[in-house]
Amino acid sequence: MLAVKKGNLKILIRRAAIEKRVREVAKEITRDFKGERVHLIGVLKGACIFLSDLVREIDLESSIDFIAVSSYGKGKESSGQVRVLKDLDSSIEGLNVVLVEDILDTGLTLTYLLRVLQQRKPKVLRVAALLDKPSRRLQQVEGDYIGFSIPNEFVVGYGLDYAERYRNLKDVCVLKLPLEAH
Ligand code: IMP
Repeated sequence: MLAVKKGNLKILIRRAAIEKRVREVAKEITRDFKGERVHLIGVLKGACIFLSDLVREIDLESSIDFIAVSSYGKGKESSGQVRVLKDLDSSIEGLNVVLVEDILDTGLTLTYLLRVLQQRKPKVLRVAALLDKPSRRLQQVEGDYIGFSIPNEFVVGYGLDYAERYRNLKDVCVLKLPLEAH
């Protein structure tokens, strides 16, 4: 793998803006499910940081679970093939489910997950995604709660990785690899 230096990271969304927007999204969810319980399902690993901040801002009875799917492997391009690597721990039948994604890109992962989860008969199935790259969409699918719409750039931080690195950055940053840096 190519070594990536700090200079190839450019802040796109600062931590303070993320915090503020996460609180707003949590408020929307709290309002939409007033008086009910919500079951958040995080898509590993990218959504784990967004989910853990989001769930603490939701003012409702909540539970969480995780699912892991294959997507990018080590690089930046999707193979287009999705499969479940780790399934949910418990049934979602009759629950108000919010699927929590880090980013909606081509939409292939989300389309697959919505099909798999819908078959398990949740009462409601909604999607929360921290980031959305609408210009990359190959499948017509949208999130119900979107943090930020961003341009077609590869981003890391706040849970998102490149080859398992950078998940711990507090800001969302654009990553330029040496070969594509201008
Ligand atoms: P999709 O199936 O193409 O929508 O891709 C969804 C998954 O690809 C996300 O959950 C991420 O794990 C990964 N992904 C897509 N774009 C980026 C990016 O810019 N940075 C890091 N991961 C990404």
